[in-house]
Amino acid sequence: MSELLTINGDTFAPFITEEQIRKRIKELAVRINADYAGRTPIFIGVLNGSFIFLADLIREITVDCEMDFFKLSSYGDAKISSGQVKLLKNLNCDVAGRDILIVEDIVDSGLSIAFMKNIIEKENPKSLKLVSLLLKKGVPKIDFPVDYVGFEIPPDFVIGYGLDYAQKVRNLKSIYRLTPQETVKPE
Ligand code: IMP
Ligand code: MG
Repeated sequence: MSELLTINGDTFAPFITEEQIRKRIKELAVRINADYAGRTPIFIGVLNGSFIFLADLIREITVDCEMDFFKLSSYGDAKISSGQVKLLKNLNCDVAGRDILIVEDIVDSGLSIAFMKNIIEKENPKSLKLVSLLLKKGVPKIDFPVDYVGFEIPPDFVIGYGLDYAQKVRNLKSIYRLTPQETVKPE
């Protein structure tokens, strides 16, 4: 994975490898398995981005667990969040009295995770924790912790491993980062 990728005229460089992701997911799962021993948490994936991370994480989970999904939209086809979170699919499970873990691919502005936290807290869960593979440093406008973080990254646009660019490239096995635009030097 040493090649640069060009998508819609933007260049992306390799950033986090498959091996690094796999190793980090195992480490997160060890902590979650210990923290939830003897309980039956519900893992809540956030479609579309988190489906690959959740699929890999859940297979390292050894405690009894259930799953459900939110579907949200905030980015449209752009590289910058619209700042407006739309709920496209609500949960089907009953979260009252249950141990809930929201599983995100990435926390950027923090708006999406704050939006879901608010919905779930109104239903009186027994506990609510947040898991995110990636957390953009310095960006999140949130005043609560993300309990399990895979990697803290600079606030750059990233793609692959579930993360899209205009709905494409979710199927990349590793994560790539947008490189700064090259300055065009005058002749
Ligand atoms: P937030 O609401 O700004 O925290 O953004 C949350 C959602 O936006 C994430 O779940 C992703 O689906 C998407 N997103 C945020 N940053 C990126 C990125 O760098 N690449 C691709 N999608 C992103
Ligand atoms: Mg997402």
